[in-house]
Amino acid sequence: MTAEEPESPKPASAPARTPLEVEILTLFPGMLEGPLAESIPGRVQARGLASVRVHDMRHWGLGRHKSVDDYTYGGGAGMVLRPEPVAAALEALRRPDSTVILPDPGGEVFTQARAHDLAGRTHLIILCPRYEGVDERIRSMVDLELSIGDYVLSGGEIPALVVVDAILRLLPGAIDSESTAEESFTGGLLEYPQYTRPPVFGETAVPDVLTSGHHEAVRKWRLKESLRRTARRRPELLADRQMSKEEARLLAELRDEASAEAQSDAPSPE
Ligand code: ADE
Repeated sequence: MTAEEPESPKPASAPARTPLEVEILTLFPGMLEGPLAESIPGRVQARGLASVRVHDMRHWGLGRHKSVDDYTYGGGAGMVLRPEPVAAALEALRRPDSTVILPDPGGEVFTQARAHDLAGRTHLIILCPRYEGVDERIRSMVDLELSIGDYVLSGGEIPALVVVDAILRLLPGAIDSESTAEESFTGGLLEYPQYTRPPVFGETAVPDVLTSGHHEAVRKWRLKESLRRTARRRPELLADRQMSKEEARLLAELRDEASAEAQSDAPSPE
């Protein structure tokens, strides 16, 4: 999957383009190849739904040593990615339909909504910085800076894997579309609890409604449990939500249940 640089001679007929093409620029191709070849990312590529090519950024490095980084002006620890190798790489890879992405802890927080948006594009180029960061002039070469959370990783490779994995599994035909339609965040709520066999494990039994065969009751239970979990764990997701009447009613039920529980837990007056 690693693209050979310079490009190996083209076969007589160029391979058909997949609906989504992803190019990843990195100094550590080995960090990406294994995870991208396995499981859903591997299957998506084998089925021709997407292609992911990993490019060694050093191919565009400067001088005899193919250098890509340098000391930071003004002094300070660490090395900074230079703009010239990045500009050269983008010149070689960029197309009119490209979206160039820079993983960066200061970027837009990556969400499921952004994953859906990127899954609808045709050509993504992800530039993985290493070292202490990138020369500021590189930012004007990219379309989107993405953060995968408020912590600092040692480079952009793991964020790139996170972003690519989240996108590839959304491509039509990648996985059962019912699972992506119902999973956490897709509807703006966390996912409801799921159970499989055995029916009783330790002290805990599977809720009766799930084995009742009553589809409407199961649907309602799942919605209510999604709301319960979201209210407990991620209340901010509910704050901006346009509630349906049913959701508002179920939330009110949850509130009534919680206050009834609080009252029954309160110590009785002496
Ligand atoms: N590079 C280092 N840390 C990162 C983060 N949290 N998100 C995206 N890119 C990063």
